[in-house]
Amino acid sequence: VALGAAIIGAGFIGRVHARSARLAGADLVAVGASTPEEGEEAAKELGAARGLRSLDELVDAPDIDVVHICTPNALHAEQVRVALRAGKHVICEKPLATSAEDAAELAALARATGVVAAVPFVYRFYASVRQARALVADGSTGSVRLLHGSYLQDWLSEAADWTWRIDPELGGESRAFADIGSHWCDVIEFVSGHRITRLSALFHTALPERLAAPHRAAFSVPGAGDDLERRSVRTEDAGFVTFETDQGAVGSAVISQVSPGRKNRLWFELDGADLALAFDQERPEELWIGARTGGGTQLRDATQQASDAARFSLLPAGHPQGYYDAFEAFVRDTYGRIVGEPADGLPTFDDGARSASIVATALEAARTGTWLDVPSTPS
Ligand SMILES: NC(=O)c1ccc[n+]([C@@H]2O[C@H](COP(=O)([O-])OP(=O)(O)OC[C@H]3O[C@@H](n4cnc5c(N)ncnc54)[C@H](O)[C@@H]3O)[C@@H](O)[C@H]2O)c1
Repeated sequence: VALGAAIIGAGFIGRVHARSARLAGADLVAVGASTPEEGEEAAKELGAARGLRSLDELVDAPDIDVVHICTPNALHAEQVRVALRAGKHVICEKPLATSAEDAAELAALARATGVVAAVPFVYRFYASVRQARALVADGSTGSVRLLHGSYLQDWLSEAADWTWRIDPELGGESRAFADIGSHWCDVIEFVSGHRITRLSALFHTALPERLAAPHRAAFSVPGAGDDLERRSVRTEDAGFVTFETDQGAVGSAVISQVSPGRKNRLWFELDGADLALAFDQERPEELWIGARTGGGTQLRDATQQASDAARFSLLPAGHPQGYYDAFEAFVRDTYGRIVGEPADGLPTFDDGARSASIVATALEAARTGTWLDVPSTPS
């Protein structure tokens, strides 16, 4: 029997979830949005059976097994609580919550209820990333010494660029670091098997004032319908972190949403004693393998790669896969876990709580200009 899925929040990523849910074999039962009317409309548009007028309807909805929370960050915690109390499996977008305390509470609640609770750290679902993880795990890289890279975007590089993420009331106190630095830290810990234990951070707001357009959808161009107002900005456009890991490596990352020409360039390099590995999200079919002699760029190829990487090769080598495929794989693995299948590397609420804890530590380190320990969280 197909799982019944509900999507809450039908913006950019809600639509990606809806598509992935269908491809992973679920019935799209319901869609909820900012208002009951918008929910009805989005449900029609996405071909769901009905719009949700209120989250309370989840309690009496036996046809809904799994709820996807795809709303602005500050709404996640309360919406997740409602979904968990209704006994549903939950996929909640990152950041799981806008405070480390809320995220830890949600992770504990999910553990106590025994449902599957996942967070789309979706870059874990590229075959090249799994291959990198396998090359560290089987000892090919030798011990990992350095972890470094960046996650750069340009969609907020001008004063007229606006998203709800800029407003701390909706996005949380950290913006660039919580929004995309969270992905970078998750993927680097995932691939290396290391944990960031101590960090320092420098946050920077390049545009202290912007033209706010509160009703503009994410990643859309300024339009005539925008209701513009000048607002001062309290969240960071960029963040630099330096860190140490539990296994003696050191690293750094540059996180920015104001880097012209970089669209969604999550890039990391891991330097081991024998090999280095590098991955660029804008070229996800490739894994660079650095060596004193030899080395080169390996293309995704299920016949040549570790079984965990091959699991995410859905097309023959040379037939490019991308973001949609990674997202679909994440949702497929989450649904697999719901029906009792193994899903190695599934990012859970514990990973979401860990991420929120790293974000909170970076924010505090940036504020105080000090090195701080990252509190350990359950894994
Ligand atoms: N995992 C990823 O790769 C990834 C990528 C993009 C966004 N995200 C996350 O997804 C979330 C949404 O981001 P987005 O880019 O889709 O934003 P968006 O602005 O495109 O969409 C948000 C949607 O939520 C709806 N909404 C607002 N209040 C609501 C409410 N009370 N109930 C139901 N719906 C409500 C809005 O109408 C809008 O359609 C954020 O938490 C973001 O961090 C994750």
